Amino acid sequence: MAEQFVCKSSEFKNGERQIIRIGEEEIGVFKHEDEYFAYSNFCLHQGGPACEGLTIARVEEHLRADKTSMGLSFSEKDMNFVCPWHGYEYDMRTGAHVADPKVRLRKYDIVKKGDDIYVVA
Ligand code: FES
Repeated sequence: MAEQFVCKSSEFKNGERQIIRIGEEEIGVFKHEDEYFAYSNFCLHQGGPACEGLTIARVEEHLRADKTSMGLSFSEKDMNFVCPWHGYEYDMRTGAHVADPKVRLRKYDIVKKGDDIYVVA
């Protein structure tokens, strides 16, 4: 396993992302609410740049006891990112496709050493 330097955490703002390369692999690194998440940038649909599209709050549906809808709203804490080619949407905390959680991007560990952020691959 190798560690690849990403950037200084003090220079990496919440809501930003970095795309890094380790060998043949491109990896997207996100910072969300002071946490870091790293995934393969190879979309599981048709190989698009999965980590380079929009980031968007998860859409939640609120149900009554009888399961009828009270409407939709954006989550205040959960975030997704969307592949720019055809819209596959992935959970930022898990890398799972939001409609089919069995479909998951490869996830990489993040190591923080002082102010330096590394991806382990
Ligand atoms: S290649 Fe990513 S949604 Fe199609």
